[in-house]
Amino acid sequence: MKRIAILASGNGSNAQQIVSYLRQTGEAEVALIITNRPQAGVIERAKKLNIPCHYFTNEQLRDGAEPIALMKAQQVDLIVLAGYLCLITPIYIKEYPERIINIHPALLPDFGGKGMYGDHVHRAVLAAGKAQSGITIHLVDEDYDHGRHLLQATCPVFPDDTPETLASRIHELEHRFFPTTIAQYLRFL
Ligand code: GAR
Repeated sequence: MKRIAILASGNGSNAQQIVSYLRQTGEAEVALIITNRPQAGVIERAKKLNIPCHYFTNEQLRDGAEPIALMKAQQVDLIVLAGYLCLITPIYIKEYPERIINIHPALLPDFGGKGMYGDHVHRAVLAAGKAQSGITIHLVDEDYDHGRHLLQATCPVFPDDTPETLASRIHELEHRFFPTTIAQYLRFL
């Protein structure tokens, strides 16, 4: 069975959906979760789900040696970034070419790039007066928010939306499409 490592910095709601979905279908398994934030909500979720969760500092993560050694030892086939806010350095792409998937909470190439994560993205979408937003699930390459798109899905933006209401609509899309897109991609590996 294919094995996944999830890298997450935040609440971990996507990580939880991915674990639950793959447990239901039995198509693949989440072998471990890695985080760069000792207080991240994903840690508690991992505990409840009984998935090993490892904390590394940003420096260790950027360097890559220790986390990659751990993932190799765990025979990880695919890395999934689920709200991961640390830079993926070239060593990861060298070790896992075409095997790193990211989710972005907007329709790339718009509203991507450095500093564009979480609520910053939703605020920028609202400030630009967009009538539509969405999600982009894509492969990770050397350039930020740039790799091949696997899926985009859209949702409306309403005139009275706040970053919070838009975020929750985007999260629904993410929870619906991220696990299935990962499973579909794994069938080609
Ligand atoms: C998600 O909305 C994801 O798209 C976003 O962080 C959130 C994590 O939510 N990722 C980025 O902004 C990456 N640039 P979660 O911790 O509840 O899964």
